[in-house]
Amino acid sequence: MPVITRIEDLRCIHERRVPRMFYDYVESGSWTEQTFRENTTDFSHIRLRQRVAVDMSGRSTRSRMIGEAVAMPVALAPVGLTGMQSADGEIKAARAAEAFGVPFTLSTMSICSIEDVAEHTTKPFWFQVYTLKDDDFMARLFERARAARCSAIVVTVDLQVLGQRHKDLKNGLSAPPKLTVKSIADLMTKIPWGLEMLGTRRRFFGNIVGHAKGVTDPSSLSTWTAEAFDVSLDWKRIARFKDMWGGKMIIKGIMDPEDARRAVDVGADAIVVSNHGGRQLDGAVSSIRMLPSILDAVGDQVEVHFDGGIRSGQDVLKALALGARGTYIGRAYNYGLGAMGEQGVTRALEIIHKELDITMALCGETDVARLGLHNLYVPQGFGDPTVLV
Ligand SMILES: Cc1cc2nc3c(=O)[nH]c(=O)nc-3n(C[C@H](O)[C@H](O)[C@H](O)COP(=O)(O)O)c2cc1C
Repeated sequence: MPVITRIEDLRCIHERRVPRMFYDYVESGSWTEQTFRENTTDFSHIRLRQRVAVDMSGRSTRSRMIGEAVAMPVALAPVGLTGMQSADGEIKAARAAEAFGVPFTLSTMSICSIEDVAEHTTKPFWFQVYTLKDDDFMARLFERARAARCSAIVVTVDLQVLGQRHKDLKNGLSAPPKLTVKSIADLMTKIPWGLEMLGTRRRFFGNIVGHAKGVTDPSSLSTWTAEAFDVSLDWKRIARFKDMWGGKMIIKGIMDPEDARRAVDVGADAIVVSNHGGRQLDGAVSSIRMLPSILDAVGDQVEVHFDGGIRSGQDVLKALALGARGTYIGRAYNYGLGAMGEQGVTRALEIIHKELDITMALCGETDVARLGLHNLYVPQGFGDPTVLV
């Protein structure tokens, strides 16, 4: 086993261990992948301010996200098909998050169902909902999430229509998969992964199959997914989801100050500055570049969370110091899961935690809550998307 010291090490093992079609599903963005790439590379424009001779003992990364205590303000983002990176992947990731003390968000498009995850965890998790047309199905999803003791819903608002990922089309990754000769040949070389998969009954979308009208088996899924998403979604309908749910609501996928204000108006408890990890609007600005202007617009009215491109604790620190109250990782924990299952998710969290803690110390800070702009050198114009820095 190689020595694992960074998230990139987990990515390399993930790439070797998991069939290409599922690895590519994670490691891709839409069209030219410009936004996907810039989500990570734009972090490097922000530099850290080094301080010395500061008492660095007694450091703490403990904080709160939507009122819930967290070991560090880093949640696991909703990621579809997590259960194809490793058998029962959502259960493994949720258990790792629970043991570490950070929130886990289950995607609507997960392999393990809400009930599966609830059965294998003891603490409440968050449930992500896509904005679907069918009100009855939405109401039932909320009911199921309530019964599973989910403490918040995360409403994803940036996927009324689907951005195109070339790799998925070429690999035949659809619902259900259209296997190509190449992907079958590749699947046959991933023996440990395949044996694990044979050992579980959870191989289809657990929240959908058997729950959505007319979707009784995986073959009827493709018709459902083609028609399920609500192309006519507007803010009135998002407000209605808040009423239907009746609990805490996080709105995810905000990339514009104007939309951030609308999210506050409909009563969001938090918003996530996110471009879906560069999987939707290719050519959109990286999330880290949009964070400052959204904080300026609504930072004093709502908790602002952030995701997109986080691959290290330094990235987390930069987002927090800009003013985000919480962050999410998507690919970083999926690399860990694909590489080493539950243990790999724990390893990803440990790596990020250690990097955050040590970097905080080297910046002369002992409490994550006290990070701020004073810890950063931000190039002029960085937060202005019309300026190319
Ligand atoms: C493979 C994959 C699947 C995803 N599926 C969902 C999803 O089902 N629902 C959702 O709201 N976001 C989804 N996202 C977006 C993530 O929640 C998150 O915004 C993104 O991964 C953050 O960027 P990062 O991967 O660079 O951390 C997905 C992201 C990836 C990489």
